[in-house]
Amino acid sequence: MSTKNMKRILVTGATGQIGSELTVELRKKYGGENVIAAGHRRKPSEKLLSTGPFEYVDVTQKDSVEKVVEKYDIDTIYHLAAVLSAVGEQKPQLAWNVNMNGLYNILEVAREHNMIRVFWPSSIAVFGPETPRVKTPQDTVLIPTTMYGVTKVAGELLCNYYFIRFGLDVRCVRYPGIISSETPPGGGTTDYAVEMFYEAIKKKRYTCFVREDTVLPMMYMPDCIKAAIDLMEADPSKIKHHVGYNVTGMSFSAGELAAEIKKHIPEFECEYKPDFRQKIADSWPMSIDDSVAREEWGWKPDYDLASMTKDMIEKLTRRFAEGRL
Ligand code: SER
Repeated sequence: MSTKNMKRILVTGATGQIGSELTVELRKKYGGENVIAAGHRRKPSEKLLSTGPFEYVDVTQKDSVEKVVEKYDIDTIYHLAAVLSAVGEQKPQLAWNVNMNGLYNILEVAREHNMIRVFWPSSIAVFGPETPRVKTPQDTVLIPTTMYGVTKVAGELLCNYYFIRFGLDVRCVRYPGIISSETPPGGGTTDYAVEMFYEAIKKKRYTCFVREDTVLPMMYMPDCIKAAIDLMEADPSKIKHHVGYNVTGMSFSAGELAAEIKKHIPEFECEYKPDFRQKIADSWPMSIDDSVAREEWGWKPDYDLASMTKDMIEKLTRRFAEGRL
C-alpha cells in the first residue's frame, strides 16, 4: 500500500446529489485543479465547471475511466456514479451494469495504476427483511431484496476482495438516506425526505410516496461529506473494517418530518399515497448502530432532525426568493 499523500482526485458521479457538493468541498481542501469532476448524463452546474476540471466519463467503459485517470495522473478516486434503488427496481439490468461493472472498472484501473485510495459509498440497502430493523448492527444479515441492494452487497464483497488480494486501500460507508438542498437526488427511495422540503417551500403541499409511519435512517449533507472525507483521511492503522461502515445521522418517520417542517411553515399540508417504493422502505432498517465507525475513526454526526430542518428551510427559502428553485 502506498504512503504517498493524496494529490490528484477523481470524483465520478460528480453531477449527482452527493458528488456535486463533495467535489466542491474536496476542491476547497486539496485545490480546484487537483479534483477532477466526472459526470455522464446530468449537465454539470456552473459551480462545478467554474471551480475545477470537468470530464465526461462512462464508468461502464474501462477505457473511458482510464483516459481521464492517465490524463490527470489520478491517484485517488471517489466513485459515486450509480443507479439508485427505485430506478434500480424499474431497470434492474441497468442497475447491475452501472453499479457492478462501473465499480469493477474503477477497482481495476485503481489496481493497475497503483492508486493510494478509493472511496465507494455503500448503503443501508445492503440490509433486507431478515435483518434486525432497530439499531441494525455492523455485522449482521445481508440479504437485500432490491437489485440496488444486491449490487451494494456484491460491491462491498468486491471491494473487500481488492483490499485482501491486491492491497488496494478501498474504504466505504453504508449511507442512510441523504438530505440536501443543492442537487436533488434521482431515483432513490429516500427521495421523499428531500422532495418534502422543496414542495413545502414551493407549494405548501406534498404527496408523500411512503406511509406516514415509515421510519428510515437519514443524514444531512454536511455530515455525509464529513463521513467520506474523515474516513478517507483516517490513519490506515485505525481502519479495521475498511468496507461497509454503518453510519447514521438521525431517524424519523415521514410524519415526524412533516410535523418538523410545519413548525417553520404552518400552512404546510402533507398527504400520503404509498407506491412501489413503500415495499423497498419496509425492507430497510429504521435505525442504525454506527458504534464501530465511531470507535475506529471517530465518526460523529453534527445534525439532528431539528437542526437539519432549520438549515434546509433557510437555504431553500433563500434560493426560492432568488428564483433558483
Ligand atoms: N438513498 C438511497 C436510495 O434511496 C439509499 O442508498 O436509493
